[in-house]
Amino acid sequence: MDPTSTFDATDSCLSHLECYACGEVSDVDGTTGPCPACGGILDPQYDLDAFDVSPETWARRGGSMWKYRELLPVQEASAVVSMGEGVTPLIECPRLAATLNRDSDRDSERDSDRDAALGRLFLKDEGQNPTNTFKDRGLSAAISCANERGVTEVALPSAGNAGQSASAYAARAGMDCHVFLNHQAGDVKKDLVEAHGAHLHLSEGKIDRAGAAFAEAREANGWDTVATFQTPYRHDGKKTMGFELYEAFGWSTPDHVVYPTGGGVGLIGIWKAYQQLHRAGWIDDDPPALHVAQSTGTAPVVEAIEAGATEHTPWEDPETVARGVEIPDPGASPWILEAVAETDGTGVAVDDGEAIDAALSVASRDGVEMCVTAAVALAGAMRLAREGAFGPEEDVVVVNTGAGCKTAGRLGAAARERLAQGSSDERPGGSAQ
Ligand SMILES: Cc1ncc(COP(=O)(O)O)c(C=O)c1O
Ligand SMILES: [Zn+2]
Repeated sequence: MDPTSTFDATDSCLSHLECYACGEVSDVDGTTGPCPACGGILDPQYDLDAFDVSPETWARRGGSMWKYRELLPVQEASAVVSMGEGVTPLIECPRLAATLNRDSDRDSERDSDRDAALGRLFLKDEGQNPTNTFKDRGLSAAISCANERGVTEVALPSAGNAGQSASAYAARAGMDCHVFLNHQAGDVKKDLVEAHGAHLHLSEGKIDRAGAAFAEAREANGWDTVATFQTPYRHDGKKTMGFELYEAFGWSTPDHVVYPTGGGVGLIGIWKAYQQLHRAGWIDDDPPALHVAQSTGTAPVVEAIEAGATEHTPWEDPETVARGVEIPDPGASPWILEAVAETDGTGVAVDDGEAIDAALSVASRDGVEMCVTAAVALAGAMRLAREGAFGPEEDVVVVNTGAGCKTAGRLGAAARERLAQGSSDERPGGSAQ
């Protein structure tokens, strides 16, 4: 392991927790759940006057996302539960970008004003985390904070990936972990939750039923919550995706980030990372435009963006194979919508077929493996590119939140099906449509 990944002190500048909804301030030592005053989301705040590391120091460190420990919420270095999460590569995808630009060229024969669809296309490859998704960043932070307070039993509801990640980090911390999934969660996640020795609780129906079962059992048993936006720490851990992104661009920003949005935890993290580094004087640039990608089967945030609303309306009858974004009632929607509005982002909804095609396109052209949920973002970016949302020189980053192995069966079946149908293109992903 990289020797710089070990450290004796975090020098965390964490000062207090502040409710996103009502502004109530809470003490970092006493509060583990939502805002005691209104039930809103508690957001860790940092004393940026005490933040005195240099960009060079952060850039020099490696090992894990804990290289950014001064702006992470754990005070005791010995409490940190880490498996080298984060420090994931930003992978350029020139062949897929060329395909998109070729398509744009074809269009420009009809419309002489049409330029290249985009400049460079990158995937931030979160599939390379310990349990193969970006969830590891949030759970490393949340389980570390629980560990610091001496917690021995944690619980959460999940679409699957967060449950797998929590099970892994809880195991490493020696904690008991209760994971509430619905029966539709993929076998990989269910199997690995059990492999880590966590307690798997399955519900019929959708994620709301798993959430209800979790709430009831948690109340009865007094478990500590590591649920999305109940713990104040998961979005704060995911903030490190933003730090890495801005670091990779030389403490500057890419033009666009497209994010597969369920609860919006990672998108809010990337937004928060920008705000902190901008306030600290490290970044002068404007923020990247943050684009919300969802599935046409569950698109409450895209609907709210299109309506110019400041919060979503819960989605009736959610249904998509992209289970990570099958979130009908994302409680943090006002915060997501603020981030989109402040950065001149947009919303885009794609259907399951487009998402699967996008995953096959990049796997067959540039080699990168994406799970179906993450591919919602790539399909969204491809759609935005075709619609002329990006400039011909602009850098576009798609967050590949999870690895292809998470949904390998579905991708393989789709590739065989397209081959049998005799795809119009030589590649199983078909034309980059
Ligand atoms: C692979 C993957 N991508 C994206 C998401 C949605 O993440 P967020 O809550 O940050 O919007 C999930 C959530 O389960 C997921 O598993
Ligand atoms: Zn509050």
